[in-house]
Amino acid sequence: MDSRVDIVEKQDYTERIDRLIDEKRARIKDIDQLKVRGDVFDENTLHALYKLSLKNWITAVGGPISTGKEANVFLAERNETLVAIKIYLIRTANFKRMQEYIAGDRRFHGTKKTRKELIFTWTRKEFSNLKRAQKAGICVPMPLVFDRNILIMEFLGRGEEPYPQLRNAVIPEPQQVYEEIISQVTVLYQSAQLVHGDLSEYNILYGDRTYLIDMGQAVTTEHPAAHFFLVRDLENITRFFADICVTDDVADLFRTITGIPMMRQENKQDRREDP
Ligand SMILES: Nc1ncnc2c1ncn2[C@@H]1O[C@H](COP(=O)(O)OP(=O)(O)OP(=O)(O)O)[C@@H](O)[C@H]1O
Ligand SMILES: [Mg+2]
Repeated sequence: MDSRVDIVEKQDYTERIDRLIDEKRARIKDIDQLKVRGDVFDENTLHALYKLSLKNWITAVGGPISTGKEANVFLAERNETLVAIKIYLIRTANFKRMQEYIAGDRRFHGTKKTRKELIFTWTRKEFSNLKRAQKAGICVPMPLVFDRNILIMEFLGRGEEPYPQLRNAVIPEPQQVYEEIISQVTVLYQSAQLVHGDLSEYNILYGDRTYLIDMGQAVTTEHPAAHFFLVRDLENITRFFADICVTDDVADLFRTITGIPMMRQENKQDRREDP
């Protein structure tokens, strides 16, 4: 922790950001533009942005890439390179859903958490999942740093244009792409021992190749619902590709990936409650 920054009084840091902007010609270029979006940039977020800029992780903030219910993603600069800043929304994120994913994950369970604490844990969890996936050789945005509800990662795109989500991409060779994704899911399970848990044409970017993104909810293979999530991920991907290439049977894929046959309880239809 940076004690120099932590001792900054609560009201003091917004003032300090203003000073940085006014006197030092904006250490974080354009942050004043972001400050007006009060719903996103509450005090915690501003403080974290301020700390990250002091440490030179952000040198300029650009426009939004995506604004959702759970998180907003912005394009930003770190010196000469482009980065993506994901900011989890403390007020609107789905607290209950996050609790369920964290409860079964040995790495993150612990004392009962407030909404804010849980979102900070979720941010840390996404960072650590991305790192773990990357170490196993999966193509994900390289995670750079996190603080509170902010995650900074490699920007995936061409120039300043983000790669499209798979659902909006033109896919010249769907068979190859389908197999690439299944192979990534396999390595994620077998080497990283993770299950993405929200894999679909929304959370895969398609550029020079495919990238798995949005890994906050990914769980370790020992999570009680890991196999259920794996089946759902495989079903989503297979459904998306079913009309455009030859797809595999989900039960066969499941057996190949896990080494065990698919059980009734792993099947969505047989499971009443969505974990
Ligand atoms: N590293 C990145 N580089 C380029 N674009 C990105 C990156 N990360 C995310 N995006 C874009 O932002 C979108 C939202 O990101 P992500 O899926 O991680 O957030 P989310 O949790 O789904 O947010 P919400 O649920 O609020 O929509 C992605 O679909 C993608 O288009
Ligand atoms: Mg997403």
